[in-house]
Amino acid sequence: MSVMRVRPTEAVLGAKVEGVDLRALDSGTFAAIHRAWLDYQVLLFRDQELTDEDLVAFSRRFGSLDEAPVQETGQRFVEGHPEIYVVSNVVQGGVAIGSLGSGEAVWHTDMSYLPDPPKASALYALEVPPRGGDTSFCSMYAAWDELPDPLRRRIEGLRVKHDGTYNSGGYPRQGVTPTDDPRTSPGTFHPPVHVHPETGRRGLYLGRRRNAYIEGLSLDDSSRLLDEIWAQATRESLTWRHRWRVGDLVLWDNRCTMHRRDGFDPAARRVMHRTQIKADRRAATVTTASA
Ligand code: OGA
Ligand code: MN
Repeated sequence: MSVMRVRPTEAVLGAKVEGVDLRALDSGTFAAIHRAWLDYQVLLFRDQELTDEDLVAFSRRFGSLDEAPVQETGQRFVEGHPEIYVVSNVVQGGVAIGSLGSGEAVWHTDMSYLPDPPKASALYALEVPPRGGDTSFCSMYAAWDELPDPLRRRIEGLRVKHDGTYNSGGYPRQGVTPTDDPRTSPGTFHPPVHVHPETGRRGLYLGRRRNAYIEGLSLDDSSRLLDEIWAQATRESLTWRHRWRVGDLVLWDNRCTMHRRDGFDPAARRVMHRTQIKADRRAATVTTASA
């Protein structure tokens, strides 16, 4: 039997967990994984051999699962597994088997257009392109910690609308009329600063830049302030980039990270299966910028 090791990346977030088979975890090992996930925000497990059932079973250890968002074509693709979201550019018989295509997926946290977004997502690589398609993560704890005081004070008490029109690949969601007016687009307001319910650490919570809107401000003022915050939150120094291999499972915490994906050659194949783990309860939110 191998011993589990947690190796932090050199970035401000992320760790690789070695020596575990996610199909067979005893409760002590699971507890250590859970702890490492809260500490490092994003975990990478390499060389896994998971069926969809295994992926669902591992994900369920963290809590019950949300159903996957409806795919861009309006379908759910994994028969018998409404919890599995397919991220893929592969087209079969003229129909995409998954979402997000092969272009860039912009910075976001998953499903924040909902009132209670999933606390975690687990993404498992089945097929990866020879180059491109890397996924980067940024630490929203570090983004808050390093946010200049004047900016902290300006976002005190605000609420930001998280848009429900477009997904991160820029595709309109099923059943939604595309609009680029963030004041009227569908979405949910969340405070831009919140306290993580499990770690007690404060972080920024931003969602997605497109169609974001700060309640009560003019469009121009909202855009300017959001641009300033986003420029701070997505600086390279706050990020960790992951280059995928088949068999990688990456588990991230949607409450304290964002992620983005590089584009890749549309002629190459990339197939990933994702689960999304329900929030335990509504995240504690604060609207004051005091420490
Ligand atoms: C996701 C996502 C990016 C990627 O699954 O939530 O944003 O790298 N995926 O496929
Ligand atoms: Mn995502």
